[in-house]
Amino acid sequence: MYKVVERRMIVPNLHELVVEAPAVARSVQPGNFVIVRADENGERVPLSVADWDREAGTVTVIFMQVGASTAKLARLKAGGSIPTFAGPLGQETEIGAFGTVLCIGGCYGIGSVYPVARALKEKGNTVFALLEARSNFLLYWQDRFKEVADRVIEITRDGTKGYKGHLTRLSEILTLEGIKPDRIVVNGCTFQMMKVSEATRPMGIKTMVNMNPIMIDGTGMCGVCRLTVAGATKFACVDGPDFDGHEVDWKEFLNRRRTYNPEEVHPLRKSGCASHF
Ligand SMILES: Cc1cc2nc3c(=O)[nH]c(=O)nc-3n(C[C@H](O)[C@H](O)[C@H](O)COP(=O)(O)OP(=O)(O)OC[C@H]3O[C@@H](n4cnc5c(N)ncnc54)[C@H](O)[C@@H]3O)c2cc1C
Ligand code: FES
Repeated sequence: MYKVVERRMIVPNLHELVVEAPAVARSVQPGNFVIVRADENGERVPLSVADWDREAGTVTVIFMQVGASTAKLARLKAGGSIPTFAGPLGQETEIGAFGTVLCIGGCYGIGSVYPVARALKEKGNTVFALLEARSNFLLYWQDRFKEVADRVIEITRDGTKGYKGHLTRLSEILTLEGIKPDRIVVNGCTFQMMKVSEATRPMGIKTMVNMNPIMIDGTGMCGVCRLTVAGATKFACVDGPDFDGHEVDWKEFLNRRRTYNPEEVHPLRKSGCASHF
């Protein structure tokens, strides 16, 4: 069993979960994920690592409550325990000396792109962070980013903090901020990663995305996380989850992600757990 050190809602619907998992904490790297189960009968939920403390043996993840399993995770309390916290899984994010890197995070991806930004800075890159949310009260961890990034930029859909609107404004924002990235790393919801990839393709800036398909085993055995990248079949859990956003077949990816919606969302509606669906 893995001890829950902390579980708190950091902004509406997004939770920070800190778990005592010394073996994971020892070897985890930016871009890795873990597979978590809230109880013995729970589904296996893949979650990206957002931070860790190697000495204390703890690992932090940020998760959004979207369905039945994340609802169970959202009810965990400090001092409790969970049966599964498997990892680190997946390939780590490539941390090279690229020059100038823009790290974009939205939703839970603000958390998971944080260790990427930190490692890129330690590698000597100039690092800019662009944090995206629907409104100012949904942004978090700005202070942490200020410690590792050369500049932190914010964008909110309603304009309550930073730039107003969507990341489709990326090209304009880069011009206004005077940033010429050699590489962009995007973590967050699928739609956002796809839109950023579309925006950066004409600019010719390599754009790495952190793919989040449905997964079962997370170790390359079931094939559920299959996606097409540069015309070849890849498994996000072992070949990724980071891929070049300009090479991902986004249409196929979005279709595969919707596969279990009737089974996952309808029971929740009936149970009354998911008022937001
Ligand atoms: C490598 C990887 C890393 C991830 N990291 C994080 C993270 O750090 N934080 C976080 O909040 N989520 C992350 N996800 C997504 C997370 O695993 C899902 O949101 C979760 O499994 C949903 O479980 P559920 O039972 O609560 O929802 P379900 O009842 O299974 O689904 C509810 C809704 O969520 C959608 N959904 C289901 N699975 C996924 C998925 N894999 N990605 C996105 N939407 C999904 C469904 O289509 C449905 O609309 C990651 C996924 C992968 C593959
Ligand atoms: S989750 Fe089973 S192969 Fe990737």
